[in-house]
Formats: sequence, structure tokens, C-alpha cells
Amino acid sequence: MLEDLAKLHQTCFPHKPWGADDFADLQKSGCEIIASQNGFIVWRATLDEAEIITIGVHPDARRSGIAAAMLGIMAADLKKRGVKHIFLEVAADNVAARALYEQDGFVQIGVRPKYYDGIDAIMMRKDI
Ligand SMILES: CC(C)(COP(=O)(O)OP(=O)(O)OC[C@H]1O[C@@H](n2cnc3c(N)ncnc32)[C@H](O)[C@@H]1OP(=O)(O)O)[C@@H](O)C(=O)NCCC(=O)NCCS
Repeated sequence: MLEDLAKLHQTCFPHKPWGADDFADLQKSGCEIIASQNGFIVWRATLDEAEIITIGVHPDARRSGIAAAMLGIMAADLKKRGVKHIFLEVAADNVAARALYEQDGFVQIGVRPKYYDGIDAIMMRKDI
């Protein structure tokens, strides 16, 4: 299963692919994962906060609501467990991801200048 996830990650992030070992390490460090044939989301929850580590959807399956659905499933589970805030960072030039997060209710709370190879990181938070 982690091999399939690594292949999907490579399709979504061809310039920074993670291997099955990377996902195994994330799980060992307490990260949680939702993954299907077409999409994945990885997050880590600590006390009443959670952080989205990564999210991706296969290019052939985009704009059909998969990412929005995964965010919804994750948030509903986190809320049941008492998590109050979800944080993430996204590259300023990632139009699709920023639109996704804004539609999902995330708001910008800060900027890390030139964080990703010269591109600003936009820090976002959603209260649940
Ligand atoms: C960002 C990503 C996960 C979105 O996945 P998706 O399944 O296509 O997103 P959804 O279909 O759930 O879109 C939900 C909403 O997000 C916004 N959105 C998603 N993709 C968009 C795009 N390319 N342009 C503008 N808005 C977009 C829209 O508001 C969309 O609602 P709508 O289709 O009703 O207009 C996907 O484009 C992806 O895997 N990108 C590469 C990996 C990546 O950059 N991950 C994020 C790292 S922070």
C-alpha cells in the first residue's frame, strides 16, 4: 500500500517525490494518512492542534471534489477528537492548493518569505 502511495505522490509532486520509506517514517512519527487510488492526505495531530503535511490528487482525477472530500473527512475526525485548529503551509504560487484551502475555510495567518526555493510560504489556519 505504501508503494502505491509513493507512486501517486510522485505523480502529484514529480520534483519532490517521497518513497514508501518516507511514508513509513511519517506513520512512525505519529502522522495519519487517508489514501485511495486517486488521492492522499497526511496530517499530524497534537493536543488541540493539527498540521496538514501534504495532500495530492492524481492529475486525471482533479476538480472532482476529491481533495475537498478528504479535507472534510479529516476535519470531522479531528473535531470529534477535540482538535480545534488546523494549520498548513502552501507555496504562494500554488494557485490550485490556495483556492482549495480558501474554499475550505482556511485563512492566511502569516508568510515565510522565500521558504520554498525562493517562493514564499503562506501559513494558513482553520478553526474547527
Ligand atoms: C491542490 C489539489 C490537491 C486539489 O485537488 P482536487 O481534488 O482537484 O481539488 P477539488 O476538486 O476538491 O477542488 C475543490 C475546490 O478547490 C479549488 N480548486 C481546486 N483546484 C483548482 C484549480 N486548479 N484552480 C482553481 N481552483 C481550484 C476550487 O474552488 C474547487 O472547487 P470547484 O471545483 O467546485 O471550483 C490538486 O490540484 C493537486 O494534487 N495538486 C498537486 C499537489 C499539490 O500542490 N498539493 C498541495 C500542496 S500544499
